[in-house]
Amino acid sequence: MCDCCKDKFYITTPIYYPSDKLHIGHTYCTVATDAMARYKRMRGFDVMFLTGTDEHGQKIEDKAREKGVTPQAFVDHIVTGEKGVLDLWKLMNVSYDRFIRTTDDYHVAAIQKIFKKMYENGDIYKGKYVGKYCKPCESFWTESQLKDGKCPDCGRDVQDAEEEAYFFRLSKYADRIQDLLENTDFLEPRSRVNEMVNNFIKPGLEDLCVSRTSFTWGVPVDFDPGHVVYVWIDALFNYTTALGLFNDKYADYDKFWPADVHFVGKEIVRFHSIIWPAMLMSMGMPLPKKVFGHGWLNFNGEKMSKSKGNVVDPYLLAERYGVDALRFFLLRTFPFGSDGNFSNELLISTINTDLANDLGNLVSRTAAMVQKYFGGKLPAEQTADEAKDAELLAMASGLREKYEAQMERYAFQNALAEIFKVISRANKYIDENEPWKLAKDETAKPRLARVMYNLLETVRIAAGLLRPIMPATADEILTRLGNPASCWESLGAFGALPADVTVTVGAALFPRIDAEKELAALEELRLAAQAPEAPKEEPLPEPLPQIAFDDFAKVEMTVVKVLECENVRKSDKLLKFQLDDGTGAPRQILSGIAKYYKPEELIGKTLVAVTNLAPRKMMGRESCGMLLSAERGEKLSLIMLDDGIPAGSRLV
Ligand code: MSP
Repeated sequence: MCDCCKDKFYITTPIYYPSDKLHIGHTYCTVATDAMARYKRMRGFDVMFLTGTDEHGQKIEDKAREKGVTPQAFVDHIVTGEKGVLDLWKLMNVSYDRFIRTTDDYHVAAIQKIFKKMYENGDIYKGKYVGKYCKPCESFWTESQLKDGKCPDCGRDVQDAEEEAYFFRLSKYADRIQDLLENTDFLEPRSRVNEMVNNFIKPGLEDLCVSRTSFTWGVPVDFDPGHVVYVWIDALFNYTTALGLFNDKYADYDKFWPADVHFVGKEIVRFHSIIWPAMLMSMGMPLPKKVFGHGWLNFNGEKMSKSKGNVVDPYLLAERYGVDALRFFLLRTFPFGSDGNFSNELLISTINTDLANDLGNLVSRTAAMVQKYFGGKLPAEQTADEAKDAELLAMASGLREKYEAQMERYAFQNALAEIFKVISRANKYIDENEPWKLAKDETAKPRLARVMYNLLETVRIAAGLLRPIMPATADEILTRLGNPASCWESLGAFGALPADVTVTVGAALFPRIDAEKELAALEELRLAAQAPEAPKEEPLPEPLPQIAFDDFAKVEMTVVKVLECENVRKSDKLLKFQLDDGTGAPRQILSGIAKYYKPEELIGKTLVAVTNLAPRKMMGRESCGMLLSAERGEKLSLIMLDDGIPAGSRLV
């Protein structure tokens, strides 16, 4: 069939925030998408599989600042650097057709056009974003984002604030979205529909803030400098700009849009099933055919998070157990639409049970017997035994249909369960037919050959259907069977394997893991990864040029005692001191050491101040002098003397 006659299938993953390294949860969604794309290709579809990175926003800007690099350099490192996003997908054998970065020029220019179009059609208007502002973090928050009424990042007080912003008229589309969700199968699993309608649409959809002025790392609004477009319009339209909407980089929009399915995690179902269709409606564009909201992977019952130290590293697991074992585990173990609980115990037991015992054993036992009894090549003369063979043959020939029904519902776990029912049945078939007994009787050789053939043919079908999930393993198994037909057509019926097949015996596909030892090793690795890094030694400061004694003698250094000390309002750096300098009148000094000391711990302490510095104003308050302290990197220590020395004494 030529390409233009094939049915199209367009599938996407969410585009990932490159704010940290990706973990097993991100890998889960991408591997599932990859398996679906491979399955559709196997079925003859012309597939477009899109993934990418969502690189704008305040979080990225902040993280880059913390690291002292530009936001672009920061995201470049996480996306293209060693063990970055691209490396991970390569390792995991992810066969994406296209990778979009929202910082790509063609995307940025297209987003500007989309924004303008929605503005011109009246669905975007200028208003005021009212929220809460945390000054030290320079962040806006909504009421619901606050933790106990305080900034969720630093825990400090927030103040009311407003900012000019553009809004999208989401409210206008509420009825049409409700209809879409309730009366079509646009969103699956169905359980997510009720959640969207009851929690978000029924209480009233509010217009959505789609531009900001309080940070700059976004797509600039070209007709209103100072405003940047972030997350909503920028990220969601990636699914269409990556096909060529409003750009010349690609020309696949007409061919692939609307998408057949967006796979997304449950927490972004709202963006994809409410905001995204409303924006497409506003643009007059066709809607995707489906949004599928998958569940989350937790670790030992808890949400994975860097601060809890329970983020599961896909690199580590792939290195220890192999990429295919990991891909298989993710899709075999957790129902795609629900949350799953990742644990090392479960991972190891799944590898041992399904892969080492069931699949691995079937392949190696069968190949070893063909080698032993027939020198590796089956004779064409074979005797069937209807009664003994019927069940295995029926299961193997009916497998493709059952598998297809599950894959079409994105039920990877069930599709794999169907394959493993047949694999178990084949292992049982060996025990029932006792080939070792048949081998002892020369006249039973044709029967023995048929038993072997039935097993090999079952292995061929199972391996062919496993290919979307375990591509390298399937290829290895099929190579051992002499690379027989494994196309979709050939997997739907028993008998495509030539009767006189030649088989190669190879190493164990999945060596059994010693669970106890392995779990201990994993725990050790986890603890080692959590151990704090040895602090970096700050380099010594550059030496200063020599000075004459007379110059030094000009500096008046006086012993002072702290009478009062308090934080300066609206400053997270400054402490304000009232000091006894021996003159009888208190001296006020402001010092930028609030990060290192609490005011109350300094009251009564004996310090050293430079007292002949010209006064200067800090945050509107006069500072008469400077307290002496020593500083290196992140550490600071005030020079303190013992209490025996009276205030006003000079340092000489
Ligand atoms: N950038 C947005 C998506 C924009 S799509 C237009 C985003 N990025 S993300 O990196 O935070 O998350 C990407 C995907 O990873 C989401 O679908 C999210 O649900 C998924 N996962 C993140 N942690 C996960 C688990 N622990 N388990 C399963 N999937 C999880 O959201």
